[in-house]
Amino acid sequence: MLLQTALVALGATLAAAVQPLEVQDQFFVNPKTGNRFQIVGVAYQPGGSAGYDEASGRDPLSDPDICLRDAALLQILGVNTIRVYNVNPNVNHDKCASIFNAAGMYMVLDVNSPLVGESLTSYHPWESYYAAYLNRTFAVVEAFKDYPNTLAFFSGNEVLNNEETGADVPPYVRAVTRDIKNYVKKHSTRPIPVGYSAADVRDILFDTYNYFQCTLDGDDGNMSRGDIFALNSYSWCGDSNFKKAKYDELVNGFKGNAVPIFFSEYGCNTPSPRIFTEVSTIYGNQMTDVFSGGVVYEYTQEDNNFGLVSMKTDGSAQLRTDYDDLKKQYGKLDFTTIQAQKAPSSSNKAPVCDEKLITTKGFNSNFTLPVPPPGAQALIDDGIKHAPKGQIVKIDNWKVKFTVKNSDGSVITNLAVKPLADDTINSPGSNTGSGTSGGGSGTGTGEPDATPSDDAAPITGAGVVSAAAMSIFAVLGAFIM
Ligand SMILES: *[C@@H]1O[C@H](CO)[C@@H](O)[C@H](O)[C@H]1NC(C)=O
Ligand SMILES: *[C@@H]1O[C@H](CO)[C@@H](O)[C@H](O)[C@H]1NC(C)=O
Ligand SMILES: *[C@@H]1O[C@H](CO)[C@@H](O)[C@H](O)[C@H]1NC(C)=O
Repeated sequence: MLLQTALVALGATLAAAVQPLEVQDQFFVNPKTGNRFQIVGVAYQPGGSAGYDEASGRDPLSDPDICLRDAALLQILGVNTIRVYNVNPNVNHDKCASIFNAAGMYMVLDVNSPLVGESLTSYHPWESYYAAYLNRTFAVVEAFKDYPNTLAFFSGNEVLNNEETGADVPPYVRAVTRDIKNYVKKHSTRPIPVGYSAADVRDILFDTYNYFQCTLDGDDGNMSRGDIFALNSYSWCGDSNFKKAKYDELVNGFKGNAVPIFFSEYGCNTPSPRIFTEVSTIYGNQMTDVFSGGVVYEYTQEDNNFGLVSMKTDGSAQLRTDYDDLKKQYGKLDFTTIQAQKAPSSSNKAPVCDEKLITTKGFNSNFTLPVPPPGAQALIDDGIKHAPKGQIVKIDNWKVKFTVKNSDGSVITNLAVKPLADDTINSPGSNTGSGTSGGGSGTGTGEPDATPSDDAAPITGAGVVSAAAMSIFAVLGAFIM
């Protein structure tokens, strides 16, 4: 009994927060350690984009049992970030955000949805740029701005998807970015980066990037400049390499970047199953001066066949060989070193906006942005009405309730999220997933020889217990004696 109480207290203590990250010049930086941060991410959208239904009162971050299952599997995989495309600002996300936070994972959120009135359109963008659209966008900001693990907001995703859309769309995306940044500045207690997620259409990619990251005369505080730039890129297929996959083109094209750049999606699925050999290149020295990691598309298996995990409607799940192969690739890397790189003291400066930056004929080179639509400035100044509010809450039980199988069909036993110590970012090995690889049962860490209660933090995983947790164990040990 005494032990159980102590363990519950321990669990509560360990469910601490990740450190909110900052953008410093062209890098994400942990302000506490001064270390750069590389995104090791997975796109998280169970049900796919088409599955998003505002009226259902559900979204990918609304069901804590599902989030717990997925956070456990993603934690074991070794990722530190999820990208979530479509969220409903008016449902409660506290438990899911808290679970991912405790698991050492950040969230990158798209503020738009595919529903009419909830995103900027590629065709006639001015028709979709109005106050009610911005109100909904600001509601997403409100719903997520108070979680420490909110890493960034995407102001748009692939709104520009070919040369034609390059003619009209750029000023509108830049205007939306400005409006969201102004909203964050006025209403968030910390700066949260805002930027665009581009389709990797090489013909217009660098024009897009230059249009969004250049500095506009008279734009005080660079409010319309993207804080980050990301691209959905599928040019590395199968057993490719830096040159063959044209990653060299990306590095050369973005070199001198003044904002963090990362893959907001990657993971070409032809051929399939995937072998993810791009992973070691993305986190290797050919890329990391320019890139800050990437997000693998995607967590759940859908019709388009990009999934790491297959789901059933009863909540049960099975890992796919893509999960195993991605885990294998992550496992080859030394993330302690990768995540401990220091930002260089010299920073890159963004170019001044000028039509000379634009190289493709027909791509917009007019940097006079549309003014906020009627009613929008008041929303920015005063805040939206009935703003949702998120907060980190205590999670009582870290054990996954559903049956999850390995790719070979065997059942994973004792599947649970392992809450990490304060300021700890998840990395491969943080949660060894006892029962999956036989390496889960911790011995020699001084923990009591008892089964932790359901409510307790799993305290297995030999060798990965942080110093802070160790000292708690020491106290706990004395307490039990
Ligand atoms: C705006 O961006 C330019 C170019 O990177 C930079 O030199 C300047 O310091 C920025 N201004 C502010 C207020 O952040
Ligand atoms: C640039 O865009 C602004 C705002 O839409 C417009 O008023 C202006 O005429 C445009 N300038 C040129 C040269 O097309
Ligand atoms: C703005 O968003 C809030 C929160 O979703 C909502 O309650 C309110 O009705 C919206 N207002 C308008 C004018 O759309």
